[in-house]
Amino acid sequence: MKTYNIAVIPGDGTGPEVVREGTKVLKAAAEKYNFKIDFTEYDFGGDRYLATGEILPEGASKELGQYDAIYLGAIGHPGVKPGILEKGILLKLRFDLDQYINLRPVKLYPGVETPLKDKGPQDIDYVVVRENTGGLYTGIGGFTMKGTPDEVAVQSMVYNRKQVERCLRYAYEYTRKRNKRNTLALCGKTNVLTYVYDLWERAFHEIGDQDYADIKQEYYHVDATCMWMVKNPEWFDVIVTGNMFGDIITDLGAITQGGMGIAAGGNINPEGVSMFEPIGGSAPKYTGKNVINPLAAIASGQMMLEHLGECEASDAIEKSIMTVTGTKLKSMGAGKMGFSTSEVGDLVADGI
Ligand code: IPM
Ligand code: MN
Repeated sequence: MKTYNIAVIPGDGTGPEVVREGTKVLKAAAEKYNFKIDFTEYDFGGDRYLATGEILPEGASKELGQYDAIYLGAIGHPGVKPGILEKGILLKLRFDLDQYINLRPVKLYPGVETPLKDKGPQDIDYVVVRENTGGLYTGIGGFTMKGTPDEVAVQSMVYNRKQVERCLRYAYEYTRKRNKRNTLALCGKTNVLTYVYDLWERAFHEIGDQDYADIKQEYYHVDATCMWMVKNPEWFDVIVTGNMFGDIITDLGAITQGGMGIAAGGNINPEGVSMFEPIGGSAPKYTGKNVINPLAAIASGQMMLEHLGECEASDAIEKSIMTVTGTKLKSMGAGKMGFSTSEVGDLVADGI
């Protein structure tokens, strides 16, 4: 029997609760579709850091890189200054494992309320391919004269052609495989970021014209992208963009699909080890209350199975999620679902 070795990082806040439900659903899917999943848990996160002073032990990335995939709950602790855990765990793993794609579907499931007027599941169904290891996240910059009135701070948006090209190629391939409207939109800012997004735009058209003549090319500035994501989300099929813009527009996308309770994502290294996580945070105020919505984590697990090639199992999880949102849950919000965290996990698992 095929066995997958999965590293699990439940993390902080409500991370452990949502990951518990996610693994429950993954186990149900494995049983039904005849494969095995071995989960190995790692306690990386705020509590471990506060107790030991260690963010990520030496060699952790290498060790995690031995698994078939990584399943992560949430990173972020109210007792730790923002940035330490995010940079030290989440971003470090994305960088060390060269997970250069962040794949974030924006899909409105049946029964889920969207703040977009007169829009339904048929209108909101696209995918954002966010470049995940470069740009402003590269971390190049610094201060001078810090703390004085003359202080200067710089943080650079850094991209090389190879980084841009591998991301664009992934996006073109993904658009072709998705085969929905065969349209790839580049989201940039060529009217102001005349170097970085000029590079993106030239590469986008060159690669598309040369190797993806079947895929229609579109271009939107990032500010306009935000506007159309609200007004005409049905225009989009696949959007590709740099790291910072991708971070921002996927929160906007998430709220249009029902919020952080439902939005899932994958940090993908197409040639290596990928890591799947709900895109929301650790929601500390709901910790331990069994009220947080686990669907985002469950949907991330579903993406992980699809990535591993277990497409039947992945489809079954998605169908079950859709039944649960369409016929059971009152709301996607924590404490407002009409069910507890573990009951929602049971509903999805039973549906498989
Ligand atoms: C995300 C998050 C992270 C990011 C933070 C927590 C570092 O916002 O996954 O979108 O900026 O990438
Ligand atoms: Mn974000």
